Amino acid sequence: MKKFVNSRVKFLALAMSVMLIVSCQSSEDRKIPQPLQSPLPGSSNNPISEVNNEEWVESILKSMSIEEKIGQMVQAERRYIFPSQVKNYFIGSVFSGGGSSPGKNKAEDWIKMNEDYQKEAAETRLGIPIIYGIDAVHGHNTVYGAVVFPHNIGLGAANDPELMYKIGEVTAKEMLATGVNWNFAPCIAVARDERWGRSYESYGEDPELVSRLAVPYIKGLQENGVIACAKHYAGDGGTMWGTGDSGYPIDQGETKISREEFEKIHLSVYEEAVKAGVKTVMVSFSSFEGVKMHENKYLIQDVLKGEMGFKGFVVSDWEGVHQIKNKDFYQQIVSAVNAGIDMFMEPMKWKECYSHLKTAVEKGDISRERIDDAVRRILTVKKEMGVLENPLGDRSIAAKELGMEENIEIAREAVRKSLVLLKNDNNVLPLKKDAKIFITGPGADDIGLQCGGWTRSWQGDVDSWRDRWMKGTSILDGFKRIAQANGGTIITDPKKAKNADVTVLVLAEKPYAEGVGDDGTLGLYDGMAHNENKKAVEEAKKLGLPTITLLLSGRPRIITEEINDWDAFVAAWLPGSEGDAVADVLYGDYNFTGKLPFSWPKSVEQIPINHDDPKGEKPLFEFGFGLKY
Ligand code: GLC
Repeated sequence: MKKFVNSRVKFLALAMSVMLIVSCQSSEDRKIPQPLQSPLPGSSNNPISEVNNEEWVESILKSMSIEEKIGQMVQAERRYIFPSQVKNYFIGSVFSGGGSSPGKNKAEDWIKMNEDYQKEAAETRLGIPIIYGIDAVHGHNTVYGAVVFPHNIGLGAANDPELMYKIGEVTAKEMLATGVNWNFAPCIAVARDERWGRSYESYGEDPELVSRLAVPYIKGLQENGVIACAKHYAGDGGTMWGTGDSGYPIDQGETKISREEFEKIHLSVYEEAVKAGVKTVMVSFSSFEGVKMHENKYLIQDVLKGEMGFKGFVVSDWEGVHQIKNKDFYQQIVSAVNAGIDMFMEPMKWKECYSHLKTAVEKGDISRERIDDAVRRILTVKKEMGVLENPLGDRSIAAKELGMEENIEIAREAVRKSLVLLKNDNNVLPLKKDAKIFITGPGADDIGLQCGGWTRSWQGDVDSWRDRWMKGTSILDGFKRIAQANGGTIITDPKKAKNADVTVLVLAEKPYAEGVGDDGTLGLYDGMAHNENKKAVEEAKKLGLPTITLLLSGRPRIITEEINDWDAFVAAWLPGSEGDAVADVLYGDYNFTGKLPFSWPKSVEQIPINHDDPKGEKPLFEFGFGLKY
């Protein structure tokens, strides 16, 4: 690695000196840029880290051709761009869409892939490294073997800012172990309608809760060498059912609320993220007041960059500009750039995007000042985050391996703190460690169901009879660990269940991501509910033992009837790869501390129902509710 970086710096110095000579001979019409005013970046007597950020950026900017500038504004998906094209088009960023992994999805495959891209970037005239983006939204979740944290909804229940910093730090370390230095996280959606498939990506229904957790997470990432990205700007969690885009009922829809509510609920979180120094913001697919966010000049240019003073750069979402209505691709690009988008997440059509940008500048549809503003922001982020010195991230920060014990411990702490106790009749919990426990239900022994979407693949998946979907431990593993150490018995065979003292029933949702998870019913036996829930609920009811139910879900589901048959009920959300930590709390080694980050509706007809907008109704359980032992 070291040798690679030195050669890049040397190459950069060489390239610049060549350019210095050439530029003295160049004629006006040649696109050879002016020589760097400031000393050569990275030259031996002037290490780049010593060069003042602003000076460096301005000197590079002045020396860039329009092609080199436009290249920085284009982001391609790894499956659709060769490393050589990164060089030829001066590409600014490459990324992984959900589940897009190289080779055998091992750390060394990721390092090799990033080295290949960075080597080519280093061979461009200016040698500006790419930044590699990924959705590491609950740990470095694409890579098999990484620690997978609870999804944001569970972290909202845990409501522990210090823990959030640690999660950001561990995520950064595991990302850097694979050479990846840009995280499309945190999602700071304030989800207001739990029928939305992305509810679990939200910390909760309250903007202050969201900011309290997003800020330390952003710092945890960025202070440990990874660029954070607050998404999706703005109002993604406030869309109205029935207004969805891309064929979804609510995802990517219209945030149909007053401007005052929009500012209070959905803009305030960006003010906090900008104050926290977030380096990038991703634009939402949704729209407000009938204007797609991807061409909302007022909200991006005037509010985010103007009033809020955001100095980082704005990236579009996956082909987000393609949703701009009544415009062809060229006009969409023009509209989006002029609205303030600085970089284009164009997984497949990055070449077309590049040429449209070039044409638009030549035709004057996009001003050179706007291009310079975009590129200045991108270069500033790269310079500030040390990407120039360490294109593959700071190796001294990178985890020595994925899934290290100390990282797992932080995930176990997060699991314990995320659990919310909503019912505990006759103190059936905590369980006695020598008790005979019948454990049943689809979520009892399935790491894939514990993790949910955005895990190894975009939509996530379940364990197979042979393999766990991800490395880690299941809820059942934890029960076995504690029972075996204390003379307890764990029964999983329904035929032997009558010998048990209690039933632990673990219900679940199927894994899903984004609009695929939009669910208009939210019952236990329909929509995105796991199709084995019904059988498990009926089996437990027939058995007639005291029953403790846990629900693995990315949002509240309607349990108003069924909960009457249960002695205890625990919302476990999507706890991730360290499911065995659940048992630590159910056996009483740790107390419950989790509180509801969402109002828990009695019926789907109540939705949207939020603590600050209850519409005269009472939910089944209030926002902020949670019992303790
Ligand atoms: C997706 C999501 C966004 C994600 C991006 C890249 O469509 O909306 O959250 O960061 O594409 O995977």
